[in-house]
Amino acid sequence: MDYLQLGDSDLQVSRLCLGTWNMAGQEGWGPENDKTSIDLIRRAQDSGCNFFDTAHGYGKGRAEALLGKALAQDDRRERAVIATKVMQCPPPRLEGQLDAALRRLRTDYVDLYLVHWPWPRGDLRAFMDKMSEMKQKEKARQIGVSNFNLQEMEVAAEYGVVCLQAPYNVLWRQIEDDILPFCRENGIAVTSYSSLAQGLLTGRFSRGSEQRAGIRNKNVLFDEPVFTKAREAAAVVDAVADEIGCTSSQAALAWLLQTEGMVAPIVGISKWGQWQDNLGALDVRLSDAEYRRISEAGMQVWEMLPADGSMWGWKPR
Ligand SMILES: NC(=O)c1ccc[n+]([C@@H]2O[C@H](COP(=O)([O-])OP(=O)(O)OC[C@H]3O[C@@H](n4cnc5c(N)ncnc54)[C@H](OP(=O)(O)O)[C@@H]3O)[C@@H](O)[C@H]2O)c1
Repeated sequence: MDYLQLGDSDLQVSRLCLGTWNMAGQEGWGPENDKTSIDLIRRAQDSGCNFFDTAHGYGKGRAEALLGKALAQDDRRERAVIATKVMQCPPPRLEGQLDAALRRLRTDYVDLYLVHWPWPRGDLRAFMDKMSEMKQKEKARQIGVSNFNLQEMEVAAEYGVVCLQAPYNVLWRQIEDDILPFCRENGIAVTSYSSLAQGLLTGRFSRGSEQRAGIRNKNVLFDEPVFTKAREAAAVVDAVADEIGCTSSQAALAWLLQTEGMVAPIVGISKWGQWQDNLGALDVRLSDAEYRRISEAGMQVWEMLPADGSMWGWKPR
């Protein structure tokens, strides 16, 4: 496993982060088995992963509770970098939510506390003040944000955020024009979510005949006519992967890992073999030409989508 410093912080994180949204087994993800999820978290840690992403909202705290239980064994918690997220809300409600999460996570601090989504009707500065207070009280070692636009990032940067968690993959390129350059210039680490486009970039839909179901029913990348174009782009990832002797998932993750400013793609898994496959991305090196081929194929999909859209057509209002 490779590790990098998370922005301007004292946190060293593995270059693959394990996501836990699907482990909550709700919101369209299949019924997940808690024992399997705990086993996956521990095995991922044993493979060198120290970076885990969760949120208060995943299964109304179920994912946090699972992560807390998995890491309660031996010195697992001390070795882990836990990121969790809170929706922007009226500031007086923040600390109670964090305290409840700390109980679920069986710890007295989180390593990285992120604003999950900004709330356009809320007072962002007042909320960031409260986030900073959580750091001063040592309930959060570092703070960061997710799903912020450039204007919101400019405010967040004033508060010393060390990390942006953003939707980013070969097909979903929203942050490239302004947000990614802003983060690079300001030393803010970027982590990508839906790094494999919820499986679209693994070959499952382009090489095989898997049909959309569950959570993917809500994802605009799986809506026609985008889906047909997305499968064509995924087929380009498959072709590059075949040429260089790796899997499609590895090529798609290598593309992210080679993007300047990207510290760690976050990936969800439901099976151990998926993690092993994804881990192999760290050994893949795309040439400039291969990187460009994948970029250009993905860009054709991105150009079909609304520039300010969200993957699930949902945003807080
Ligand atoms: N900040 C935010 O607003 C936000 C939003 C979304 C996600 N996230 C975070 O990012 C994490 C990952 O995002 P995501 O789950 O949306 O997308 P993702 O990581 O692109 O997709 C995860 C799914 O892809 C499939 N998969 C993964 N590796 C595979 C492999 N090697 N071969 C075949 N299939 C593979 C699995 O599907 P099956 O389960 O069907 O096998 C897995 O559940 C989440 O868990 C969460 O922590 C954050």
